[in-house]
Amino acid sequence: MTTSTQRGATIIGWGTALPDLIVTNADFEARLDTTDEWISERTGIHERRHGGTTAGLAVEAGRNALNMAGLTGDDIDFILLATTTPDYQIPSTASQVQEELGINGGACDVNAACSGFVYGLVQAHGLIAMGLKRILLIGSETLARLTDQDDRNTAILFGNGAGAVVLEAVEGEGQLVSFDLGSDGTARKLLDAPIGGYMNMVGKEVFRKAVTVMVDSAKISMASANLTTDDIALVVPHQANIRIIETACSKLGMPMDRVAMVLHRTGNTSSASIPLALVDALENGRVQRDDNVLLVGFGAGMSWASAVIRWTGHLPEGNK
Ligand code: UT7
Repeated sequence: MTTSTQRGATIIGWGTALPDLIVTNADFEARLDTTDEWISERTGIHERRHGGTTAGLAVEAGRNALNMAGLTGDDIDFILLATTTPDYQIPSTASQVQEELGINGGACDVNAACSGFVYGLVQAHGLIAMGLKRILLIGSETLARLTDQDDRNTAILFGNGAGAVVLEAVEGEGQLVSFDLGSDGTARKLLDAPIGGYMNMVGKEVFRKAVTVMVDSAKISMASANLTTDDIALVVPHQANIRIIETACSKLGMPMDRVAMVLHRTGNTSSASIPLALVDALENGRVQRDDNVLLVGFGAGMSWASAVIRWTGHLPEGNK
């Protein structure tokens, strides 16, 4: 989809949160039938964070984003919280975050698994096009809770964390140039977690499908924006496995020096992974004004999502 709206949005603040507890590959090596070498080579992950709650991490990331934008909860019309690991089944995790940040207005969770942040980003732009002024969008997860820590197939992959952005309405075109959101419900059994149970995953099949949907979705978003790989300054992929990212980028002809990466230190944080990688890139001066930034993710469902953003939003001092 190419966006068509009289009222767009730009990102005016961002924030992240990671719990303090670092779990290294060596920690797994000490108690599971695995090695640091296997995990590093097959996944690219060296450490991930455990602990915290989904609401607690979301509040911290959201507060950091509000502070950066010079706003308080009062200035926000709506909070959208992407998560697959809500703290309660009822109510939404967004409700608790809303109370703690003093936000008046709507609040709800979005569950599109690891595609959730990009789904939320597009939904936020839709709400702004309909008249809302400012939205707090957060991806927050406590996946260590949903993962059997004795299962070497999954325990090594997932971690906890949160990333948030504040979106503000602008007259005319905003930053979102194009997007593609999709889902294939027939593949939903490849990665699931029953209520009260742990995550089950057919890793190899998820890997194979992930590469296909990331490449296809990225191509759709770039084509809708009339762009090619050469026009993209930075790709921010879902941080699941370095080999998935490398294979998808190689099929897209995208050099790895134009790819945002935090996977080695966060593991897979599902809907928090794209905002964590985006913020890391922004803070390290990897985005300049008017750069085209491609966000692309996939996840359980099986869902996928991509979006091209032309960066007209805030930038840290020094990289204008
Ligand atoms: O957000 C989406 C979430 N999910 C994903 O992104 C998962 C996508 N899939 C993957 O990332 C990869 O498939 C994995 C990292 C999960 C597995 O890597 P793989 O290269 O596909 O390995 P595999 O499943 O083919 O397993 C190869 C071997 C097996 O042993 P045998 O049958 O060859 O004897 C596994 O039992 O590696 C074994 N294995 C391990 N060995 C050491 C599986 N996990 C481990 C481990 N340490 N942690």
